[in-house]
Amino acid sequence: MCGIVGYVGFRKAAEVLLDGLRRVEYRGYDSAGLAVRTEKGLEIVKEVGKVSDLEQVARGRNLTGCQGIGHTRWATHGGVTVTNAHPHADGAGRFALVHNGIIENYLDLQEELHAKGVCFFSQTDTEVIVQLLAHLRAETDDMPTALTLLQQRLNGSFALAIIDAQEPECFYCVRRGSPLVLGLGVEECFCASDVSALLPYTKNVVYLEEGDTARVCTKGVEIWNECGEEVCRDVAIVDWDVSMSEKDGYPHYMLKEINEQGAVFRSTLKGRITEGRIDLSNDLDWDASKINSWKNVHIVACGTSYYASLVAQRALEQWTDCHIVVDVASEYRYRRMKADPSTLAVFVSQSGETADTLAAQRKARSEGAHCLAITNVRGSTLAREVHDVLLLKAGPEIGVAATKTFMGQMVALYLLALFLGEARRTLSAAEAKRLAEELLHLPYKVEIVLNRQDAIKEIARKYAEKRNFLYLGRGNTYPVALEGALKLKEISYIHAEAYAAGEMKHGPIALLEPDVPVLVIVPRNSLYEKTLSNIQEAKARHSAIIAVGTDGDALLPHHVEDILWIPWTDEEFVPFLAVVPLQLFAYHAAVLRGCEIDQPRNLAKSVTVE
Ligand code: M6R
Repeated sequence: MCGIVGYVGFRKAAEVLLDGLRRVEYRGYDSAGLAVRTEKGLEIVKEVGKVSDLEQVARGRNLTGCQGIGHTRWATHGGVTVTNAHPHADGAGRFALVHNGIIENYLDLQEELHAKGVCFFSQTDTEVIVQLLAHLRAETDDMPTALTLLQQRLNGSFALAIIDAQEPECFYCVRRGSPLVLGLGVEECFCASDVSALLPYTKNVVYLEEGDTARVCTKGVEIWNECGEEVCRDVAIVDWDVSMSEKDGYPHYMLKEINEQGAVFRSTLKGRITEGRIDLSNDLDWDASKINSWKNVHIVACGTSYYASLVAQRALEQWTDCHIVVDVASEYRYRRMKADPSTLAVFVSQSGETADTLAAQRKARSEGAHCLAITNVRGSTLAREVHDVLLLKAGPEIGVAATKTFMGQMVALYLLALFLGEARRTLSAAEAKRLAEELLHLPYKVEIVLNRQDAIKEIARKYAEKRNFLYLGRGNTYPVALEGALKLKEISYIHAEAYAAGEMKHGPIALLEPDVPVLVIVPRNSLYEKTLSNIQEAKARHSAIIAVGTDGDALLPHHVEDILWIPWTDEEFVPFLAVVPLQLFAYHAAVLRGCEIDQPRNLAKSVTVE
């Protein structure tokens, strides 16, 4: 949940680190810090608040060195204070260290070090690591050996970047359970929690494996595995470019990312539909006997990725004969759910680094399931651990509230559902072709909704001051209602609850009163009349009704106050269109309320701890 960067080379390290920290700031943003090796030794600067606050302080210090590490924090152990911000140093000031993750046995280690006379200054688990390292380094011949021993003493998850005042040409990295990627430039090298921090400098990267330790120098990197044996890791070429992680004239990343959804849709489809047939042969090497061996499909995810999975559940149930189970990863990992070789287990994660999703995958895999990742990040931990990967191709998503990756996830999951249906012959070739053709039209329809932003903004203006909302949907729009309510909660801090419309009478109707608007997704589909009845029930309690309705529906305006219009599409595909006005509604309501859009309070983009 924190962002790490490291640099060694010919540039002014403080500038590279601040630039990198701005790019990984979405990972955590309550405090930030950096350590640079200058002629005076290790200079550490830390500040509570955003990277921009750190920049103010760092500018006054004129840090000249070309080697350093930086960190942006999302507090776990210890409050948000300058002392608790990273980097942390050992008592003698020889080592400075930044950490992403959690050390579960830090209290035991702290007690052990206390007994040896070590004083601690912060309330963090991280300070224990650097103090322990100082002890281990004093007892060993070299740093890689000390770091191998250090790993053996630590329980939990960690990505570490460390500088040693006595080694002017390099810094060190260690990775176990939290992401860390190395960037290889010419006469300079980098490390970062994710590639977006490296994009302005290099596209050549090395994804560290579990348990790896690296020495990062200007000329390149040396890597040791968890046993301390020197190893070679492949260099990968990143196919994102730096412009993809810029705001591009938009006031917020979130708005840019919402507006990219037509393009994301096309890019996730690209090369995967040939002559009206779903063709995943470039991604998945699955033959008929393998596909037919699966009786169960488990889809496991968190947050927005879970809601995309719930949408896909309906499609998979309709187009295949498999038994479909969808669960949140934090539940699935502790349930006695049988995931044997007759199970295709699909893990949906934008980042590919969500701790619960990773743990759920390891569980399913250990039980014999065939594991597929649907992720946006090539080289992520999830992508490297599963049997197969289906990439979203959405480009980097910087806004903490997921938008374009929800769209990409639904596209990838629908491709999978159609592919399985056709391969298992539960969906006729003609029907699969018709559905694939509508998929190809959908990006244009998404863009039609995006062109209606002014109308959506005006409706958001009417309701932005409300304190509570109820969101309702039925069938495949119920998960869209969940996602719409989550977006509103996350960025505007308005309380919103989402229910299956038919459930309203079973409890939530008690919440209704004139000041509680109800947002209902009511497309012209087979459940239209049923949802209209639910609207009547809410109206009878004097709630204002905002509907997501289908263009040309002449009846709807007689029943509701405001309508967010979407074009017609097949019932199966309504979620792709219905979610867009809900994202924009949440965005504009939050802007009107003066909220921080891209970095909402208390959140971090990747939840890399349990
Ligand atoms: O990277 P992941 O898709 O695994 O992340 C899952 C959730 O943490 C994420 O979707 C979260 O709910 C977002 N804040 C939603 O906007």
